[in-house]
Amino acid sequence: MNKQLNTCRKWVWVLMLLTFTKSHAQTITAANRADWFKDARFGMFIHWGLYSILGGTYDGHTLPDESFENGNSWYAEWIQQRLEVPRDVYRALVKQFDPSKFDADSWIKEARDAGMKYFVITAKHHDGFALWDSKVSTYDIGSTPYKKDILGELARACKKYGLKYGFYYSHCEDWDHPGGATPSWTPQKSDAQFEQYWNEKCLPQVTELIQRYSPDLFWFDTWGDKQEKIFISDKRRDQLIALIRKQSPKTLINGRISWLNPGNDIDFLEMMDNEYPPELLQRPWQTPATMVHSWGWHAKDYNWKTAREMVGYLVSNTSKGGNYLLNIGPKPDGTFPAMAVRRLREIGGWMAANAEALYGTDPVLIKAPQHVCLTQKSINGKNYMYASLVHALADSRIVLPVSYDAINSIHILDTGMPIKFEDADNKSIAILLPQKTALADDGVTVLKIALK
Ligand code: GLC
Repeated sequence: MNKQLNTCRKWVWVLMLLTFTKSHAQTITAANRADWFKDARFGMFIHWGLYSILGGTYDGHTLPDESFENGNSWYAEWIQQRLEVPRDVYRALVKQFDPSKFDADSWIKEARDAGMKYFVITAKHHDGFALWDSKVSTYDIGSTPYKKDILGELARACKKYGLKYGFYYSHCEDWDHPGGATPSWTPQKSDAQFEQYWNEKCLPQVTELIQRYSPDLFWFDTWGDKQEKIFISDKRRDQLIALIRKQSPKTLINGRISWLNPGNDIDFLEMMDNEYPPELLQRPWQTPATMVHSWGWHAKDYNWKTAREMVGYLVSNTSKGGNYLLNIGPKPDGTFPAMAVRRLREIGGWMAANAEALYGTDPVLIKAPQHVCLTQKSINGKNYMYASLVHALADSRIVLPVSYDAINSIHILDTGMPIKFEDADNKSIAILLPQKTALADDGVTVLKIALK
């Protein structure tokens, strides 16, 4: 009798578990899958792989180098092609990949402290090297002296610090597999060869990444070149999307799965590198952005943007409904360059005081004055508008097309300082800024406008 009762109880549990899992799986829909992404606004991008070992220089030549026919680029992750590194020499870098100072926890903590809400790393870049131990290729972390499960450690750290995580996967270009696409100036592969790469490497590796790491996002890469036109047909695009949807309904897919025709089944549009659309876009979107010119570590790329500039991009994208995915190219020993750490912490300092104006906000559909970015949200049933001043203003009196009667108060978000405003005409107010604020002496300043 007791035995029967126990079996019965067991079945009730199984049934409850099944219903629970099912109802949770069902809650993810095409309409809500990207909700977290829309609220997140700010993410960390990482370009890290064999190219990081070369740091932009090979055999006495440093990118960009016009003595090579295709050497005029800062992109250090392209060094194999642009500085014509022989395949064997490049492949042999596998034996040098040994990032003894890599610490997943410190990377993700750095991202969290900068105010970033998600993390995307190059699981496989164009060179074809897999940053995890792949079953379908030996050109991977498993063949390096390091061997450790970098992606697994990062995924765990992301969970610990509350970040979503995803993988960049170069689905079109693959310079190692005999069928993968290669740059436009190299001999082209046939469609049959590409199909072989697609079935032998691309689809199985994407499946592996899903099954092993359950990513929140995939970042695919095309940019409208000849290779995309030839190889990434709508059929292949849809096949890849279907494979991901089937195995992992929560996983977001970016628009650069097919730059020329992303279709309607992707989750967000991906701008071109460092591209900032001038206007609000109707679909969720993001800009992938660099701190220097290169994505991968380049020891002689001294073109560091200031934290101030980067905060400006973040704020401006947010006001247009977009996100900002900011890249770091870690060094071969596994550490972030000090210049990147300094900037991340400066941005983090700004975020500690001002993030309220970004997370979970919507754009404001009125025309903002030049250098002013607007966002809005409600907190505990009260409505607020945020006006971020991203550059020095020509005039310390700014006019906003909002009626005087609609406004309760205006304060500087971080200091709490009250700001005077007056009725400019029937439809707008004039905000009277202290000179220091108007000159943007203290960096990007946010005004919090409480609405009635
Ligand atoms: C480009 C480059 C690539 C980089 C990417 C990031 O597509 O080919 O090196 O990963 O942009 O946006």
